[in-house]
Amino acid sequence: MHLTREEERMLSGELGEPVARALDVIVKVGEALGAERLIPISHAHVSGASYLTIGEPGLLFVKSLADQGARVRVFSTLNPVGVDLANPGVLDVDRGFWEKQKMVVESFLRMGFQESMTCTPYLLRKPRPGEHLSWGESSAVALANTYYGAHSNREGGPLALMSALTGRTYEAGMHLEENRLPRAQVLLDRGIDMGDEGMAGAVGYLVGEKLGSTVPLISTRGPPPFDAIRAYTAAAGASGGIAMSVIEGVTPGWRRLVEKAGPLERVWVEEREVRDLVPGEEVLEDVDLAFLGCPHASLEELEDLARVLEECGGLREGLSFWVSTSRHVYGIAREMGIVAKLEERGVRVIRDTCPIVSPATRGRFRRIATVSGKSFFYLPRLQEAPSVIVPYSLLKRLVCAKR
Ligand code: F3S
Repeated sequence: MHLTREEERMLSGELGEPVARALDVIVKVGEALGAERLIPISHAHVSGASYLTIGEPGLLFVKSLADQGARVRVFSTLNPVGVDLANPGVLDVDRGFWEKQKMVVESFLRMGFQESMTCTPYLLRKPRPGEHLSWGESSAVALANTYYGAHSNREGGPLALMSALTGRTYEAGMHLEENRLPRAQVLLDRGIDMGDEGMAGAVGYLVGEKLGSTVPLISTRGPPPFDAIRAYTAAAGASGGIAMSVIEGVTPGWRRLVEKAGPLERVWVEEREVRDLVPGEEVLEDVDLAFLGCPHASLEELEDLARVLEECGGLREGLSFWVSTSRHVYGIAREMGIVAKLEERGVRVIRDTCPIVSPATRGRFRRIATVSGKSFFYLPRLQEAPSVIVPYSLLKRLVCAKR
């Protein structure tokens, strides 16, 4: 692999042992994937920050890096953790877990990471078309490639951390245009409403199941709203391994990518398949937790929810409602009075974490209703929590006292 002079200096240990070891890992992964050179990145985002998923070995690893004086060389953010660090009492998490989680986060902060704890790093720093990133959260990666036209592979948490310490990644995969061309065209039945987050999530779930990690071209009737695109890309990245979709009228440079790709195999998503995945009101009687915020809720989602609950007389009795968001969006929403409105209506607004990466979820609920295809995929697998995916319009009816 060709290395620049600065990269040679990093590798030789001139810039410290952690940098040398981090670059060595990136070079070895790059060589295994056929990369001819490394490329500078402008933003690293590290997943695997919850003590629930990384455990003691993960804590010892990041602590030892911080103790050795490792420092990030680019803007670097951190994925959600297992507890709301600013308000640990909001979820039922034991003190021992909370202490361990704090140590993980403190180690990252000592290395210079932003105190972000969110899967929506794009809401903190908007990626530019064509810029190179090293991100380790599949939903964020898919959105960066699909919506912003930035370039990132689906990195594992440790590799994204190595990129944070060196400011480099390897030039392969999604960093090369030839791998960003669509390989199949997905056509949607007319009755499928991609404007609804729950339906968009269900479509993403089906596309991921049908296509694995193939880059699809999604043909829709008009560009879906931002939050629906997030729901689609997160679900497609969970049930399959889709790192990028080309969405007509949305993805920067989509016409060029389609022209370069040439004729494509066609795959249908039928309304019947979506209906099978998204049941009707009959299953809702069983639901004791409604959840919104996977990926972490945007300001617009929080605003809309506060308005809905105000209009419909507040939260239905006997139902818990959790909304997870970033501390960044939470801060803005609190200033605007939105958090207070939601909390007055009985909604639990949670920062820094989500029901999938927190130990607070397991064994507590009969059935969880979510608009997120990604949550629907992971809740039973990681938390053994039965879940159902619902359209946003139905979730609003479910949570309201006056339906
Ligand atoms: Fe984010 Fe948790 Fe979903 S980390 S993408 S809210 S599984």
